[in-house]
Amino acid sequence: MQARPKLACGTAPGKVILLGEHAVVYGRTALAASIDRHVEVAVAPAGGPARLAALACSADGTHWPVPVEALERATALTGVNIADIETVASANLPFSVGLGSSAALSVALIRALALFSGQSPTDTEVCAHAFEIEKLFHGFPSGIDNTVVTYGGLLAFRHGATPRPVALRKPVPLVVAIGQTARETQKTVRGLRQRWEADPGQYEPMFDEIDGLAGAAESALSTGDFARLGKLMDANHELLRRMKISTEELDQMVSLARRSGACGAKLTGGGGGGAIICLCDGDRQGLVDAFTRSGWQAFSTDISKAEETIESGDDGERFEQRHSARA
Ligand code: MEV
Repeated sequence: MQARPKLACGTAPGKVILLGEHAVVYGRTALAASIDRHVEVAVAPAGGPARLAALACSADGTHWPVPVEALERATALTGVNIADIETVASANLPFSVGLGSSAALSVALIRALALFSGQSPTDTEVCAHAFEIEKLFHGFPSGIDNTVVTYGGLLAFRHGATPRPVALRKPVPLVVAIGQTARETQKTVRGLRQRWEADPGQYEPMFDEIDGLAGAAESALSTGDFARLGKLMDANHELLRRMKISTEELDQMVSLARRSGACGAKLTGGGGGGAIICLCDGDRQGLVDAFTRSGWQAFSTDISKAEETIESGDDGERFEQRHSARA
């Protein structure tokens, strides 16, 4: 065991789901990617400089205590005595809008606690622990959020299978726009479950269609065909709308994106509120400005492939091996 540091910081990125949210809960494939917005958690000895530690970790953002339930579960998982520590979280990732904030908080917290207590967990272990914390926030998550947030990059995820890094011809230029209403993942997942149970014959074909869209999107990504990818995203949004996952506001935002030159747009994450993603091969600042003028916050981000963002010096083969160890 290493000597216990006075303070430790863990960090993790947010995420977007490019295609396949909700259908992924029913065993279909979804494509998800980390984004360049982060949550950081600082851990310091009780009575110690946790707030200062957080400030040292993060250049910007507000700071707040880690939610008690998450902290209790994370300390139990890592064997850290909760009475011995103070924690502070900070983020430049918007919270509760479908961008993976709870998963990022979970992963950052596990990483910070592990570092604080001199442990060196593998990504597989971090991911598994974060999944246990995610259940507090989302009830019965598929595991996609904690997986992409742990490993980073763009992944094809299917419950029970080894996640795969997706080949990319070039980085994917997105604009993320945030609605006024928080996402309602637990509620939308529960509502869809009830509707599916009442009429599986209506929903199964839609899940299959989304699965097909995700497969087609993988090919479009491998050739850099953004016009095609945009159409696939549009089709995915339409299916989510038919499944009652979208809202009037999200539909308005998607329309604005398309009118303003995006190749395609869709809601991302749990829905019922939250954010949309727009594929924008042209004037991204123009699109961000169009959202801002209409009263919605927006920012640009690029999706890159997994191998570049997992660990420097890592490669796809070792990535696959780590995942295999988990399966
Ligand atoms: C939430 O980011 C994605 C959902 O498919 C739920 C899940 O997969 O756990 C809506």
